[in-house]
Amino acid sequence: MCGIVGYTGTRVAGPVLIEGLKKLEYRGYDSAGLAFHENGQLIITKAAGSVADLEKLLDDKHKTFKAGVGHTRWATHGPPTDLNAHPHSSASGEIVVVHNGIIENHRALRKRLSEEAGIEFRSETDSEVLAHLIEYYFDGDLLTTVRRAMSEVEGSYALVVAGSKQPDLLVCARQASPLIIGIGEGENFVASDIPALLTHTRKTCIMDDGEFASITPEKVELFDKEGLPVEKEIFEITWDQEAAEKGGYDHFMLKEIMEQPDAVRETLRQRVDLEAGKVDLTELEFSAQELSKTERIFIIACGTAYHAGLIGKMAIESIAGIPVEVDVASEFRYRDPLLNPNQLAIVISQSGETADTLAGLRMARSKGLKVLAITNVVGSSVSREADQVLYTWAGPEIAVASTKAYVTQLIALYLVATYLGQIRGTVEPRQSLELVEGLLALPGQLKQVLSEESRTLIKNYCEHLVNWDNAFFIGRNLDYPVAMEGALKLKEISYIHAEACAAGELKHGPLALIEKGLPVVALATQEAVLDKTMSNVQVVNARGGAVFAITREDFDDVSRQVEAVFYLPAIIDILTPVLSVVPTQLIAYYTAVARGCSVDKPRNLAKSVTVE
Ligand code: M6R
Repeated sequence: MCGIVGYTGTRVAGPVLIEGLKKLEYRGYDSAGLAFHENGQLIITKAAGSVADLEKLLDDKHKTFKAGVGHTRWATHGPPTDLNAHPHSSASGEIVVVHNGIIENHRALRKRLSEEAGIEFRSETDSEVLAHLIEYYFDGDLLTTVRRAMSEVEGSYALVVAGSKQPDLLVCARQASPLIIGIGEGENFVASDIPALLTHTRKTCIMDDGEFASITPEKVELFDKEGLPVEKEIFEITWDQEAAEKGGYDHFMLKEIMEQPDAVRETLRQRVDLEAGKVDLTELEFSAQELSKTERIFIIACGTAYHAGLIGKMAIESIAGIPVEVDVASEFRYRDPLLNPNQLAIVISQSGETADTLAGLRMARSKGLKVLAITNVVGSSVSREADQVLYTWAGPEIAVASTKAYVTQLIALYLVATYLGQIRGTVEPRQSLELVEGLLALPGQLKQVLSEESRTLIKNYCEHLVNWDNAFFIGRNLDYPVAMEGALKLKEISYIHAEACAAGELKHGPLALIEKGLPVVALATQEAVLDKTMSNVQVVNARGGAVFAITREDFDDVSRQVEAVFYLPAIIDILTPVLSVVPTQLIAYYTAVARGCSVDKPRNLAKSVTVE
């Protein structure tokens, strides 16, 4: 995710800001920039590339100023280019902004500002609109102007604004994106994340949604939306640098698991309309005619993304009635699939750089298929080569084990399935509303699934699992791909051999491996096959297997039939994979921790697999 640093005080700001940006590098970014005051003007230096590259661009005069703002960008609107990098300035250059988050109504604001003020935009970003909007309303008082401008803005933002007229003032605003003020002696700081502050101060004050701040070297003042002063508590941060980078969690993987509610909310943002009971993917420039004549879909992906594809297949087939084939990309490229231009390929890749997936994409295009990419990285190879891109807004994923990216891939696939169903008339308005309501309920339900109580339950279960070298994950229907994903995650980070098995297949061979105490994780979330799954569980019980069931709270009979149970909130069958995967992620995580494994960087694996 993007990073923000701001400084106002008596020190030369350049090194302070550069150092702060370097402390935020772990979050992932693709460009960086700074703005300083110089002779009554704000001078911006920014470029695609690293903070080290940016540092080289700063000449000595840039190093003499006492206040400024800095930013590391992780592209969302528009690829990583010099122009799209932050800071962004107003037409006169008198207002400069750095922004994290997404401005949902940026198109409407752009249009208005071009028509009413003749503004010519320089970048493709949503953020640039903020600099122009603030200038449009500027009345000499930066704080009140920012408040006024932001009252017209919809979306999420952590915003720091500098104005050329008041060289030591920074004005900040926060809505659904973190912003933390660091309090020093005769100097003050602001940052999107604690690591950027720690070398200078441990005294912080955390801004809440809807708050504004005015920061000078001597004073920090906070206000609410109406401009009334807000009293804030000052926190003393006790984390060390490493803990701060992980948001206080022991590993990036756990941090990313815990970020899933927000990642899902962001991926749904502006794509579902509760009032209309519809999904809106008009951001994809495929014509309705093109989509309605799609004969078949090929989903191409690797690893975890492939497992998301398996669920996507079931969702698209049942909601939109289009036949779907799912291929591991490394197999797709070497088989002879029957491809023609009336088909659509969907490639799924968190990184957007996976060599096999990219080769599958190219092969599909060469046969005349239109390609839709589902990826998390703007400007990645996959996003550049596909015809259309549906971004997952999970933010950078640092742990090698994919968690929040996977969950947002599922969301993207449900959106595609529902959208196709609407276009093709295979989804009734009532069903479409049910799906939309179900999707919007997911962030809250994920929070429930991630509660401390749930995590303790899983941790306790892992005390049993940790002593075994083998485990099974079983499930039917939509639970089967989730079982595959659970098994992959356990293998990947705990090095326990785990096998996923369609529950009905146990008796055709794998049952021979069940012995007393062998850990078997049974996914039993699908109402339509619940009885069948539970009879497979009985067969495991009869051979002494220790079954841990992941099921739904409305299936209260399950607990009597297994050793331990994890209940998910009640949810419609089709959406359960979004929730049921979470306990499997936690099982892998706590088991790996208990075995002393390198959780974030498992042996032999890389985050981005750019070789065949
Ligand atoms: O970046 P991609 O989504 O294309 O990566 C695909 C796989 O390499 C990836 O999902 C891998 O399986 C994960 N490490 C699993 O946690």
